[in-house]
Amino acid sequence: MSIKNITVLGSGIMGHGIAQVSAMADYKVVLRDIEQKFLDKAMEKIRWSLQKLAEKNKITVEEVDIFYNNITPLVDLQTAIHEADLIIEAVPEDFNLKKKVYQELNSLAEKNIIFASNTSTLPITELSSLTDRPDKFIGVHFFNPPQLMKLVEVIPGTRTDAKVTQEVTNYINKINKRPVVCNKDVSGFIVNRVFIPLVHEALFSMERDHVSKEVIDSAVKFKLEFPMGIFELADYTGLDVIHKASYEMNLRDKSVLLPHPKIKEKYDNQNLGQKSGSGFYEYKGDNYERIDLTMEKASEYDPYSIIGVAANNASWLIENQVCSIEDLNVALRLGMGLKMDIFDIFKKIGPSHVIGKLLELESKYGSFYHPNQYLYSIK
Ligand code: 3HC
Repeated sequence: MSIKNITVLGSGIMGHGIAQVSAMADYKVVLRDIEQKFLDKAMEKIRWSLQKLAEKNKITVEEVDIFYNNITPLVDLQTAIHEADLIIEAVPEDFNLKKKVYQELNSLAEKNIIFASNTSTLPITELSSLTDRPDKFIGVHFFNPPQLMKLVEVIPGTRTDAKVTQEVTNYINKINKRPVVCNKDVSGFIVNRVFIPLVHEALFSMERDHVSKEVIDSAVKFKLEFPMGIFELADYTGLDVIHKASYEMNLRDKSVLLPHPKIKEKYDNQNLGQKSGSGFYEYKGDNYERIDLTMEKASEYDPYSIIGVAANNASWLIENQVCSIEDLNVALRLGMGLKMDIFDIFKKIGPSHVIGKLLELESKYGSFYHPNQYLYSIK
């Protein structure tokens, strides 16, 4: 079979973006949410985004309407999945909520429909066992914003049929994204295993080294060549997403990150970042906005612990054969917007400084900072 009709469940930041990029590759898409007002907001954002792409000549003015009309927003679940070949679930990152969604889908969806989850951190094999079709279940992890980010991690569970992995990989290629297959269903997959711990580490660095978030973010942007500062990226991604991802990752694997309490505090206070007008920084509205970071501020700080944690988790992925170095580099360049390969940044900053910093942190704060063997082989 080949995929023609797609239903996206959840019209939030990820869901509406996935619907849009699928519609832009001429798929017929149904976007489903539990209330009409969420769908109205999502369709407004899709129109804004398509117009933005037309302004930049990435699509034509005529295509704005064509692509927009490829999407049908619907509330009724049964009708929404009626013609689907592939259902992409992009509801909030909460295991119990996803469980409820899959229970409902089991009773409504025809047996041949593939289920894909856009989960960023929940184990695919565990989610697949909530369904009546673990062989037709797969992870497709898009990045924020799906309209601009090229990467999609494809994560087969232990029971996923190889034909389904192929079929879904073809779909990802067709929507003009770059699939990277994550060979093992590990906590955080590839990119989040590197990215999420950095938000916690940036908070620890701020406290331990008595520097401001603007200085850390400037150093990350200008010295580590990240496209955004870590706090800026966290606000952009959403502190609800960061908190839930951190919680789920930490629940299953204590070695991935060292949780900083500020993330949960921000989440509890609904300081969710750009979407709520305030996170680590303050924002004027919920539209795209950048923080003013400078080279001058960058010169005040050496982010050794931040690159140390990133390179160390990247080393873990290589040592454990989750992906090849080539795929790791593609994933981090396209999924986090890194301008250089992670181990090249590590080399540029200085392996002896960075490993020295990790060892110092290990002696003070424990085994989370223990450098993986692979790091020592990078010269
Ligand atoms: N559709 C169309 N256009 C959009 C858009 C959208 N949805 N969102 C933003 N834009 C536009 C902006 O309005 C802006 O337009 P302008 O030029 O007219 O002002 C333009 O795109 C971006 O302009 P910038 O000069 O700010 O562009 P950059 O070169 O910095 O690129 C970026 C923007 C691609 C977002 C880049 O900053 C980047 O790569 N950031 C990192 C993002 C990232 O790492 N995301 C992953 C987060 S982790 C994740 O998602 C995983 C999850 O599981 C947690």
